Amino acid sequence: MSLKSLAVLTAGGDAPGMNAAVRAVVRAALGSGLKVYGIQRAFEGLAQGEIRELGARDVGGILQRGGTVLQTARYPDFAGIEVQQAALRLLRGRGIDALVAIGGDGTMRGALALHKLGFPVVGVPASIDNDVYGTDMAIGVDTALNTILEAIDKLRDTASSHRRAFIVETMGRHCGHLALMSGITSGAEMTLIPEQEASAQEVAEAVRSAHERGKTHAIIVVAEGASLRANALKEQLDAMRLGFGFRVTILGHVQRGGRPSAWDRLLAARLGVAAVERLLKGESGVMVGLRAPLVVAVPLEEAGTRQRAPDLEYYRMARMLAK
Ligand code: F6P
Repeated sequence: MSLKSLAVLTAGGDAPGMNAAVRAVVRAALGSGLKVYGIQRAFEGLAQGEIRELGARDVGGILQRGGTVLQTARYPDFAGIEVQQAALRLLRGRGIDALVAIGGDGTMRGALALHKLGFPVVGVPASIDNDVYGTDMAIGVDTALNTILEAIDKLRDTASSHRRAFIVETMGRHCGHLALMSGITSGAEMTLIPEQEASAQEVAEAVRSAHERGKTHAIIVVAEGASLRANALKEQLDAMRLGFGFRVTILGHVQRGGRPSAWDRLLAARLGVAAVERLLKGESGVMVGLRAPLVVAVPLEEAGTRQRAPDLEYYRMARMLAK
């Protein structure tokens, strides 16, 4: 069957760059002559038929906005086969041939369910947690990391002024990626993640040593999924008299908002276009993702004598999406 139309939805926790991905999907699909539909409020909106046709102008001015103009919802009921079948009838009834589902691991499960029922679906990973299997980075992670760093840089200012240690709790659900990356990039004394147990005693050692080395502050980053959460850790550290006073900052949903970074916008454009192109080729039941190369060593002979050219694939994408 040749594809004549597709729908797009965003689901799960919102992530900066979801709008850029929606725009990329819509414009790439329109550019290939498809009719495009937007589904409001994720799988819940799908089950309730909240579907409208989208044109190029409907996704104008959203590239730089956080959140998702299609809105999102958590909808555990979509795990039920009757709900899935009803959604499928609705999609087919509206003459929709395929779906692009943008979101995290739960979204991929919803997408898989529709694929298994014979409906063409491609997933696009977007979640600040970076816990979606099959991609090095999901859309939204880079922006969330930058939000965390901005906050920690500010906390460091006040921490130094008062000779304090700050315990900063990040989101990430059961995954330590956000905490770990922000720990490295903010120069934290210690980072607690769910994947690697650490005791309050170990944190105390790191803080005590920082104090002894003459540091005027200390930063401890704690993932929300770590077995020792920020407030519990503070209670234990307070009792140990380590030379610093402790304060807790729980960053919370501020990490999910804000203008997407250049990296997230680019990733959204690449994955959005790729999703449409996969569907046009007749593929279904896949998620488009990014697998970056490792850190490598390049001969200076080459680095000093050759030039890196821009990837002209971006030129093609820029033309396609500027409609
Ligand atoms: O999956 C994104 C995320 O922000 C997690 O990091 C967090 O645990 C969860 O969503 C919070 O969910 P809600 O916004 O439904 O409270």
